[in-house]
Amino acid sequence: MSVVRFEHVAKSLPYGFWLRRKQVLLDVSLTVERGEVYGFLGPNGSGKTTSLKCLLGLLRPDAGTVEIFGRPGNDPDARRKLGYLPEHPYFYPHLTGRELVDYFGRLFDLPSDVRRRRTDELIELVGMADKAAQPIKQYSKGMMQRIGMAQALINDPDLVILDEPMSGLDPIGRREVKDIILDLKARGTTVLFSSHILADAEALCDRVGLLFEGKIVRESGVDELLEGRVQYWDATCDDLQAEQVPGYRCRATQGDRLYFRITDADDLDRWIDIVRQAGGRVVQVSPHRHTLEDFFIGTIRGDRRLADGTGSEGPA
Ligand SMILES: Nc1ncnc2c1ncn2[C@@H]1O[C@H](COP(=O)(O)OP(=O)(O)OP(=O)(O)O)[C@@H](O)[C@H]1O
Ligand SMILES: [Mg+2]
Repeated sequence: MSVVRFEHVAKSLPYGFWLRRKQVLLDVSLTVERGEVYGFLGPNGSGKTTSLKCLLGLLRPDAGTVEIFGRPGNDPDARRKLGYLPEHPYFYPHLTGRELVDYFGRLFDLPSDVRRRRTDELIELVGMADKAAQPIKQYSKGMMQRIGMAQALINDPDLVILDEPMSGLDPIGRREVKDIILDLKARGTTVLFSSHILADAEALCDRVGLLFEGKIVRESGVDELLEGRVQYWDATCDDLQAEQVPGYRCRATQGDRLYFRITDADDLDRWIDIVRQAGGRVVQVSPHRHTLEDFFIGTIRGDRRLADGTGSEGPA
């Protein structure tokens, strides 16, 4: 059984006057399996938050099925096993960070000793130990995000749903959230998170789904997507003029240093031979691998070659 299942979910939301509605989700189908870290990617306004709200039972889909552990997301048994970090958490501003985490522990009926221990552990984990006694209204965006993360983990959930967990965080905070996600994964917890920060998603996810204009346009394993394929090499040589490297277009020169971009491995071998034979020196050959960002931008722009990493963005 999948931990999360969306099947052909559609949802419209009211906007403007006269009960007009906007079709926000057209067709969202995806599954998240046990123990997986799943990256839910998509540009602004594509419907990620709306989908997650449907999953949690905060919005009711117009059509299709959404399930967590085979049950609706608002089912009390499903809820006990999940943690949720909203995109814009609203927490009672007069509470301190510690009181907030404790409050969520009470909602899950944790015994007081367990609640206290977990609150301490989680506050430490998210790097908020020295700020936990401050009221939340004094928190910065990143501090809210950290305390929100602690709140989402208070019930030791089997499934964690995080809507933009890295947003508003500095590089240290991002690294810490990544480490928390990797730690959850090591313990077998299933994680579904939405993100725009593709390098982070690339480092964390087993699979990604790409949502665009309310539809899942691609879903794939990250390994399968990237496969370590080299798209092109940036190659640099010294002590030559461009005419001494015939058949290759020089992209830039700097004194007697020449810059090339080469898309084919055989062409690269020949380029190295030509440079050496002409008395030049190879300074650098650096491969550019296909990234999640290429996949994301390529898919959205409809550029299959960029999306699949089968072509180069630059001329040879
Ligand atoms: N409560 C609402 N009422 C009406 N329209 C809404 C509401 N919430 C979201 N929308 C619209 O639904 C679409 C999808 O919004 P959603 O917040 O799900 O996108 P998102 O993918 O999470 O975007 P972001 O990356 O900016 O967080 C947008 O066009 C948005 O304007
Ligand atoms: Mg959102």
